[in-house]
Amino acid sequence: MNSTDRMQYQIRLANILVKAGKNKRYYHSLQVAQMAEDMAKRFGLDADKAYLSGLLHDIARSLPTNQLFYLAGLAQIPIKEIYWGNPALMHAPVGAYLLQRDFGIEDQEILASVRNHTLGAPQMSGLDKIIYLADMLEPGRKWQGIEVLRELADRDLDIAMKEALLQSIDWLKEKGKRLDSQTLEAYEYFCKLVAKKDI
Ligand SMILES: [Fe+2]
Ligand SMILES: [Fe+2]
Repeated sequence: MNSTDRMQYQIRLANILVKAGKNKRYYHSLQVAQMAEDMAKRFGLDADKAYLSGLLHDIARSLPTNQLFYLAGLAQIPIKEIYWGNPALMHAPVGAYLLQRDFGIEDQEILASVRNHTLGAPQMSGLDKIIYLADMLEPGRKWQGIEVLRELADRDLDIAMKEALLQSIDWLKEKGKRLDSQTLEAYEYFCKLVAKKDI
């Protein structure tokens, strides 16, 4: 993907987000794209795919709840119980659907990384991990302990994912929010993986 292609995707995204008054989300998307590209280069993964997934991961984030449910219906996305209480989480699978439908993106790795960026999943691909982590750690993000996780993400994606998922689970518990079984399964998966690495 050359710089003209990149710019075209940026313009399309800006048309959607900036027009909707979501300048901050557009800026966040650019930051995630940049960080995902840097991480891909560090870990020997496809930097263009990482950039594109990062840029477009929140394509459905600004849609109202009724649109999310409508599009989920069209895309035959199973409505998990957690979506009723927190419909915004659907922006991940709905985003993957829109990228395929409206942007003509057929790359399954890209679509999966967008689909998995809110709940996580067991056996995440390298690209899935990068997008999940870049979304959480891009330079605009600020929360206590972020530096520790950024350092981990520089060194080992699996260890960083284990800690990132734990961070998400703790945050949900603290806020009294529901935890989806997929997130817990993802956390258990990375716990086992990391434990094996230590042997
Ligand atoms: Fe998102
Ligand atoms: Fe995001």
